Amino acid sequence: MLLRKLLVASFLLAPTISGSAYAQLPYLHMTKVNNSLVAVIAINDQDGVPMHNQPQHHSNVLRIETYRSHKKTQSTAPGRGRVIDSGIAVPTVDNQDGILIDYYTQYNGNGSTDDGWPSKDKWISFMDMFNNSRGHMEKSCRQFNVALNTQQEIVDVYKAIQFVAAATFVDHRFILAAVLQESGGCVRAPTSNYGVPNPGLMQDHNGTASCNKGRRAQKPCPREIITQMIQEGTGGTTWGDGLAQCLNQAGTSDVSAFYRAARIYNSGSIDESGDLGKGIATHCYASDIANRLTGWVQYPRNCTLDD
Ligand SMILES: *[C@@H]1O[C@H](CO)[C@@H](O)[C@H](O)[C@H]1NC(C)=O
Ligand SMILES: *[C@@H]1O[C@H](CO)[C@@H](O)[C@H](O)[C@H]1NC(C)=O
Ligand SMILES: *[C@@H]1O[C@H](CO)[C@@H](O)[C@H](O)[C@H]1NC(C)=O
Ligand SMILES: *[C@@H]1O[C@H](CO)[C@@H](O)[C@H](O)[C@H]1NC(C)=O
Ligand SMILES: *[C@@H]1O[C@H](CO)[C@@H](O)[C@H](O)[C@H]1NC(C)=O
Repeated sequence: MLLRKLLVASFLLAPTISGSAYAQLPYLHMTKVNNSLVAVIAINDQDGVPMHNQPQHHSNVLRIETYRSHKKTQSTAPGRGRVIDSGIAVPTVDNQDGILIDYYTQYNGNGSTDDGWPSKDKWISFMDMFNNSRGHMEKSCRQFNVALNTQQEIVDVYKAIQFVAAATFVDHRFILAAVLQESGGCVRAPTSNYGVPNPGLMQDHNGTASCNKGRRAQKPCPREIITQMIQEGTGGTTWGDGLAQCLNQAGTSDVSAFYRAARIYNSGSIDESGDLGKGIATHCYASDIANRLTGWVQYPRNCTLDD
């Protein structure tokens, strides 16, 4: 783990979150997640499962970690049984086995594991999620015809997410998933408007921060504005809710709270049926978020709910 941390540190400096730094930020709404089963009060980049079967993204150290956890599973198995059926026995340990993580699964229903939605132990770690999305964040501004993100801006997005996660108790992976979903992480994403102006990285509810006001896309996008965009999408604005409020309104304490909150963030409410693919909304939205949390980056978005 230590080695892996060092590897990470070499490409991205860990954020420093100090109490005094909070005071410098004009939190419009410092709403915190109020459900202790959903709130995340300590930031840990190594949370979540390590990526499996993605040699292109794997460091040697990660492979070793995966191998170790396989060994551990073996040694804790009770008794001394051995699989006899050669059709199902696995005589050699293959660290590249397991599902291909960058994959899209369409989830239907109410966001519960009973309906097949992924449990939190299927979520990948923040570090892997961020790292896997880096390439995408480097190019995502292209879709808006504005200057591409710089490396510094990407580092600032990372720091802003960690910082605001610590202040709001919203799982940092959930914030990153929303950022990727809403803007692809492009710091110069334009404001969209379907009745309510939705500016910035998280296309938040009529927030004030943006690095693309009208025709003037700002480059570089200052760190303070990046932080405020994350803050407004996560902690809310004068005019509407952020992810924290949506989590507080979700009304469940299992992983479905996140998928329900995603639905609320996208469309303001959950359809009466409880089906997260229904209502006046981007029907695939909650399914997309669940997939981002479990490692989806490039795989074709195989969701038919909006067809
Ligand atoms: C992050 O991704 C790069 C490739 O984009 C890879 O070289 C590096 O090992 C990855 N780091 C971790 C900790 O996964
Ligand atoms: C979600 O659906 C599952 C199975 O369809 C059901 O058991 C569960 O009670 C539902 N949960 C909620 C919060 O409606
Ligand atoms: C958005 O904010 C502006 C003030 O910045 C306000 O005048 C306007 O009514 C708000 N619109 C909505 C839809 O919240
Ligand atoms: C959490 O916030 C929600 C929405 O504002 C509220 O309905 C609920 O009562 C709050 N729960 C607690 C435990 O404070
Ligand atoms: C999309 O999902 C369907 C089943 O839901 C599957 O048959 C198809 O192979 C998937 N396509 C891709 C590109 O994964």
